[in-house]
Amino acid sequence: MTRKGIAIFNMDKFLIKGGRPLKGEITVSGAKNAALKVLLASLLTDEVVVIENIPLITDFYLMVEIIKELGVSVKIFKKEHKIVLKNKGLQKVKVPLEMAARLRTSSMIIAPLLARFGQAQIPNPGGCRIGARPIDRHIKGLEKMGAKISYHPEDGYFHAQVKKLMGTNYKFPKNTHTGTETLILAAVLAKGETVLENAAQEPEVDDLIRLLNLMGAKIRRINSRKITIKGMEKLTGGEFKIIPDRNEVVTLAIAALATKGDLIIRGTQREILKAFLEKLDQANGGWEPLDKETTRFYFKSQLKATELTTSSYPGFMTDWQAPWAVLMTQAKGISTIHETVFENRFQYVQELRKLGAKIEFFNPEVKKPEKVYNFDWQDKTQFYNQAIRILGPTPLHEGILEVSDLRAGATLVLGALAAKGESLIFGVSHIDRGYEEIEERLKKLGAQIKRV
Ligand code: EPU
Repeated sequence: MTRKGIAIFNMDKFLIKGGRPLKGEITVSGAKNAALKVLLASLLTDEVVVIENIPLITDFYLMVEIIKELGVSVKIFKKEHKIVLKNKGLQKVKVPLEMAARLRTSSMIIAPLLARFGQAQIPNPGGCRIGARPIDRHIKGLEKMGAKISYHPEDGYFHAQVKKLMGTNYKFPKNTHTGTETLILAAVLAKGETVLENAAQEPEVDDLIRLLNLMGAKIRRINSRKITIKGMEKLTGGEFKIIPDRNEVVTLAIAALATKGDLIIRGTQREILKAFLEKLDQANGGWEPLDKETTRFYFKSQLKATELTTSSYPGFMTDWQAPWAVLMTQAKGISTIHETVFENRFQYVQELRKLGAKIEFFNPEVKKPEKVYNFDWQDKTQFYNQAIRILGPTPLHEGILEVSDLRAGATLVLGALAAKGESLIFGVSHIDRGYEEIEERLKKLGAQIKRV
């Protein structure tokens, strides 16, 4: 299967000659973790939905394939980064296994299918293997809305049905980003009002809310973690532009600093990047606002070590810690990173060590781990580590590297860009899942990077 010349299951590698400062201007793409969900809104209406600022990445194309399979007609205007969606009358309630197993957001389709047809069959979700990643919090919420859901191990599917989803009060036991979005998608067409407590605050959740409200939904964030949704009879179509990708901003900003470069990045919504900018100040990283959504990131002088703990929004995001680790290899002193959202997000460490990075694991003292960690504490095994120490500054050298997941992939690219010599990165398909034409865009900033 190929899209835009990019094979979804490809064997591509990156050859990177590092040690050159990146310089120039770049615009970030639309947010992956908003784009994948707003596609699902098209299942909730029979009218046309137009989405602008879509990222042309393989995860997006995969999600498009899935909703096409269910009966949505799709036109993509690549140059304009625009997609036009029209639900022709959904034809299936079962999400195909081979597609869905590769994409976590495929499980969210359970919500619009239950809302409109009272039936859904969705496979146990795929996506990056950064932990057990169960969907129990989503399922419990849907059950509270009246759905009967059972998991069938013989075919690997959740089978769900309901006469009519009913509004309810549901308190998430712990934060879940896609879980909150799933319940919102279910509640917009339910009977009565739904109140979600301890709901996620991630900006991508609010982007989905913005689109649904534009389509006639009545969703309000009452306070930071409480959302109410008034069920409607039906939703209309709408035209919508998704927010820029905050993960891409962070990746590019770190590319500027780790290579001792200077980049002007357009599409930086600084109000949703506060935790990152604060950490950058502590690290003596250079940044200055140029206009509302444009920020310059540049190397000032010797970087300083930092200590950080990841958390859900508005904290320092889990997706940023791996790229941050590269930056801290160049900072003076001992830095620490404590990962609390996923249980297996340090797979990149052994690869950065191949570049000469001095990183060790340690056990942080945590009083009530079952409360502190966002994953279910019983999912942790002895093989997982929650914290690292990084000793810097350490000159990085070339290496042959293997990508384990999307953000780890971006991290290895950053490591290779900052390192002296020529590095080879295997497993580039993980990077293509979330970064549009990354090598072409980095080349324009002076990187020596080739897809082979
Ligand atoms: N969790 C459960 N049960 C649930 C739901 C979550 O145990 O029912 C656990 C997860 O296993 C995890 C933690 O709770 O340990 C947080 O999970 P959450 O549901 O918040 O994460 P997610 O929705 O699976 C999204 C993004 C991730 C991002 C996290 C945190 C999408 C498609 N994915 O994942 O993005 O890291 O939120 O903000 O939106 C990425 O883009 O590379 C990526 C992994």
